[in-house]
Amino acid sequence: MTTSAQCDFTFPLSRRGDVLPEEADLLRDKHPVAKVRTLTGDEAWLVSSYALAKQVLEDERFSLKDTANPGVPRQYALTIPPEVVNNMGNINSAGLRNAVMKTLSPRADKELGGWLEAEAHRLIDRLVDQGPPADLRDGFTEPYSAALHCRLLGIPTDDWRRLMSGIDLAFVTSPAVFEGSTPNWYKDLGYMLDRLRADPAPTEGLLGRFAELRRSPDVLEQDGLDQVGSGQVSDDLLATVALSLFGAGAVSTSAFLLHAIIALVQQPELAERLRREPAVIGRAVDELLRYNLSIGDALPRLALADVQVGEVLVRQGELVLVLIEGANYDPEVFPHPEKIDFDRETNPHLAFGAGQHFCPASALGRTHAEIALQALVERLPALRLALPVEQLAWRPGFIKRLPERLPLLW
Ligand code: HEM
Repeated sequence: MTTSAQCDFTFPLSRRGDVLPEEADLLRDKHPVAKVRTLTGDEAWLVSSYALAKQVLEDERFSLKDTANPGVPRQYALTIPPEVVNNMGNINSAGLRNAVMKTLSPRADKELGGWLEAEAHRLIDRLVDQGPPADLRDGFTEPYSAALHCRLLGIPTDDWRRLMSGIDLAFVTSPAVFEGSTPNWYKDLGYMLDRLRADPAPTEGLLGRFAELRRSPDVLEQDGLDQVGSGQVSDDLLATVALSLFGAGAVSTSAFLLHAIIALVQQPELAERLRREPAVIGRAVDELLRYNLSIGDALPRLALADVQVGEVLVRQGELVLVLIEGANYDPEVFPHPEKIDFDRETNPHLAFGAGQHFCPASALGRTHAEIALQALVERLPALRLALPVEQLAWRPGFIKRLPERLPLLW
């Protein structure tokens, strides 16, 4: 048992999203719970095997909410208001869970599949009109993901660019708080407040539900929600929920789609299989989720008690970082993890996390990617990188590994 291993690694690992950082395998094999130094200079335990990652994520003595406390060790500076870290906790305690979960459920919106398909084809039509090469991030993944989130919230699609540029700043990972972070957040929060209070009031999406709630707080009860927050939910909280869902969702879906496209265009036989056997798309997306390296940092948790994790006794108050790529490439669970295999018998990957904070929109994230990827492989069968993969420019200092541009030919 040890509590004082040397800080041998600095974290985060490489920003490149096309190759597994070499430290990931080394850490998992030799030091599955390793002491690392983070961007802020704090110490943390980096957990990189599947079994231990799952243990930490499923044990509520490892808290996400408490990572926002003042004075605790950090992965990077907190550049969003601390209460936003406990997003789902706030949603639950305000009695808004059902309204939010309904918004995030692809099954609750019968027209969603057809709408996503039309949106994907509209964007591909535009790419085809303009001709190759084209940047699929600007021309496809971002507008497609953002449009979905505008629909979910019930805000005009034309506003997507201003919201996406707010995210670019909100999710910067920095050793220290920077000047633009607070005004950036409050500018976008102001936008959501204006939409919520608009006259006429919004009628669509989550903001439509929230507008109804503002008019008659007892809709919480009609929705079958608990009554904890009935009549007491502030506009600020409603706008914060809307903004943080846009942020969490648009950046995650767009980033994953970029990674999935990069993987498919490098292995055309996989895209060919999807054209021949469209029924494989569900399993294919799950495997691409396992394989993708979009989570650029690690999932942070603060230990609320002394807890044994593998060979290390993690002490109360210490920061634990769960390395998702470590878990998802663990050969104990995923034989030949470096291979994209649509036929894996089981695929219990952790791309959506695990435990209490498991992504509440995993079904939506899957549907979004399945429709986009199927449309791309069918419409653009010769899709390929316009430059060597090593030339992709990966964004530094951001919560996701993102290529700044994804220039493709077809
Ligand atoms: C492919 C797409 C997506 C991926 C890979 C993804 C991944 C994740 C992961 C790994 C977590 C766990 C974070 C943690 O444990 O610390 C998470 C949580 C979360 N995700 Fe997603 N996500 C996706 C799509 C979305 C979408 C579309 C939304 C909303 C519109 C969303 C909203 C959230 C929220 C609110 C949480 C916090 C849950 C909590 O704290 O209990 N995600 N997501």
